[in-house]
Amino acid sequence: MELEKKAILKLESKEYELPIMIGTENERAFDIRSLRKLSGYVTFDDGYGNTAACASKITYIDGEKGILRYRGYAIEDLAKNISFLEAARLLIYGELPTPEELHEFRNSILNNVKIHTNVDHHFKGFPANSHPMAILSAMLNTLGCYYSEMATNDRQSDLEHLDVAAAHLISKVRTIAAMTYSTQEGHPFVYPKPDLPYTENFLHMMFSEPYNEFKADPAVVKALDLILLLHADHEQNCSTSTVRMVASGGANLFASVAAGVCALWGPLHGGANMAVVKMLEQIHESGDDGGNFIEDAKKGKCRLMGFGHRVYKNYDPRAKILGEAAEKVLSVLNKNDPLLNIARKLEEAALSDDYFISRKLYPNVDFYSGIILKAIGIPLNMFTVLFAIGRMPGWIANWKEIAENPESRIQRPRQIFEGHKSREFIQKD
Ligand code: ACO
Repeated sequence: MELEKKAILKLESKEYELPIMIGTENERAFDIRSLRKLSGYVTFDDGYGNTAACASKITYIDGEKGILRYRGYAIEDLAKNISFLEAARLLIYGELPTPEELHEFRNSILNNVKIHTNVDHHFKGFPANSHPMAILSAMLNTLGCYYSEMATNDRQSDLEHLDVAAAHLISKVRTIAAMTYSTQEGHPFVYPKPDLPYTENFLHMMFSEPYNEFKADPAVVKALDLILLLHADHEQNCSTSTVRMVASGGANLFASVAAGVCALWGPLHGGANMAVVKMLEQIHESGDDGGNFIEDAKKGKCRLMGFGHRVYKNYDPRAKILGEAAEKVLSVLNKNDPLLNIARKLEEAALSDDYFISRKLYPNVDFYSGIILKAIGIPLNMFTVLFAIGRMPGWIANWKEIAENPESRIQRPRQIFEGHKSREFIQKD
């Protein structure tokens, strides 16, 4: 990190010199760590919209230019050339794997796919209508109990076990997802097959039945693998910041990613792809083909879910990649789903209507991931779980970055107190 000139901050006629930090891509910040000690002032930034909460080497985003890079590699190059598992290894360890390293990583993921049979009874204990995200978070933390030697909350020891703990989590997050689905559907759980790659094995565990093996079309496998890769990390978003926050207190990897799942669950974060399908259903049920909804959106009466983005103001590079994959999947599956026809109409309108063009409202990644997941047959309440499977490597990479940094401190923001001043205690009758 380059430390250049200093910023001068004037408070009550006193001047303070604050070091300026410059990142690899020329992002600039001034370092306020000493400000409170020197002046008594803190900074206020509700929602952290203007706060760099950490320095990180994992993912870079430039929302104005539509850039997303994992460890310096453009997302477009990664999507074209590598699989989700290779991207996972890149994110966690910082470099593209050699063929031998990849082979070892794949084997370790494969060897850790099975869930301890004692875990079965946990699944049976959840009420039938439990949300899969609640189950996922609970089960990831439970895994830490089964592999307690990897979840000691002793940072050095947890770091020594990181490789195998990461393999357990990347592998088992999809097993837990598939077990949740089969339990809720009342199907017997089908065990993973050793010869199937990561994403295909997941689809096998989700949709195969003991006497009816599911054979996934290669276009479907490719599209789902792309969805996972494109969601694998996204800088300091809500769930990743949560993982880092929990990790900063010294909690183990299992506990930290379980917290990440809870943060991802919210509709403002991982739940947006579900909102896309709900919107399509709502449009369909009203008898509209999408045209009236678009007009209502232009009048500000509703929002087109899956359009626009807080960070990407030119285009969402992930949406560009996934849009092409969606076309392929839909044509391979030959889906004549009225919801998908509505989706096409909305997309056409957004790309040609001046209201959307002038406001830079392009379809975002959730629009296409929602459509693809629906076409594949993933149930709506599992959409965010799929997001969590994809995001797991990013959470692990961020946990590792915190745990390996000898200077990392517990995260403990300040506040501006707006409650009562000190008052006299009088018991109420
Ligand atoms: N449909 C219709 N109009 C929209 C939409 C939309 N989806 N999004 C923004 N606008 C309009 C606003 O009404 C506003 O119009 P105005 O200038 O006439 O008042 C203008 O575009 C700017 O809107 P803002 O709310 O300022 O944009 P902001 O950057 O704050 O919001 C957000 C971004 C939250 C993503 C927004 O576009 C939205 O609500 N989209 C739908 C929800 C969604 O898809 N979320 C997923 C995001 S991707 C992700 O999280 C992985």
